[in-house]
Amino acid sequence: MSMVVGEIEIRDAIEDDVGEILSIDDLVFSTTWSPSFLRQQLCSEKCSHRVIKKAGKIVGHSGLMQLHDEGHVTTMAVSPSSQGFGLGRLLLADLCSSAIALSLAAITLEVRVGNMIAQSLYQKFGFVPAGVRPNYYSDTSEDALIMWLNDLFDEKVQETIEETNKKFLQAEVKNG
Ligand SMILES: CC(C)(COP(=O)(O)OP(=O)(O)OC[C@H]1O[C@@H](n2cnc3c(N)ncnc32)[C@H](O)[C@@H]1OP(=O)(O)O)[C@@H](O)C(=O)NCCC(=O)NCCS
Repeated sequence: MSMVVGEIEIRDAIEDDVGEILSIDDLVFSTTWSPSFLRQQLCSEKCSHRVIKKAGKIVGHSGLMQLHDEGHVTTMAVSPSSQGFGLGRLLLADLCSSAIALSLAAITLEVRVGNMIAQSLYQKFGFVPAGVRPNYYSDTSEDALIMWLNDLFDEKVQETIEETNKKFLQAEVKNG
C-alpha cells in the first residue's frame, strides 16, 4: 500500500530503488548492505521494505522482517539533509502499521548504545530497552541495545501512529 501526502510518498521498495537506498546508507552507516543482500530482502516474502520519497527523490527507507508473530526492524535510515523534519517518525509509524496489518504481536530491533537519536525515536512508539548484545557492531565493537515494542495492539501505539500521521498531514497541507 502506498501513501501520498503533498510531495511525500511512502511505498514498497522496488529493485530500481536499490542504488538510491544504498547511497543513503553510505552517508549514514559505517558498514552497509551489499546490493545483492538488499535485492534478496526486497524479494523475500518475509520482509517488508519501504521507501519514503520527497519531491520524487528517495530520502529514507525502512525494513521489517517477519519471524513467526514477531517483527524485526532490519534497517531504518533518513538521508542526512532530510533528518529532523519528522520523516523518521513517519517511516516508523508506517512500519508499525505494516506490522499490525500482518497481525504481528511485537517488534524488536538492535540499535547502537550511543545512538540516542534513534533510541529516542523508538521510545516515542513504546519500544523499551530489553538487554544488551556486547560488541555487536564489528566496525567499532560497540554494544547493541535490544529494544522491544511488546504489544503492538496497545492503544498507545495506535494513538502514536495516528498522531504522527495527523501532525505530518497538517504540516504538508500548510506547506501547500
Ligand atoms: C534515526 C533517524 C532515522 C531519525 O530520522 P529523522 O527523520 O531525523 O527523525 P525525525 O525528524 O522524525 O525525529 C524523530 C525523533 O527522533 C529524535 N530526534 C531527531 N533528531 C534529533 C536530534 N537532533 N536530537 C535528539 N533527538 C532527535 C526525536 O525524539 C524526534 O522526535 P520529535 O521530533 O517528536 O522530538 C535518522 O536520524 C537516521 O537516519 N540516523 C542514521 C541512521 C540510524 O541511526 N538509523 C537507526 C538504526 S537502528
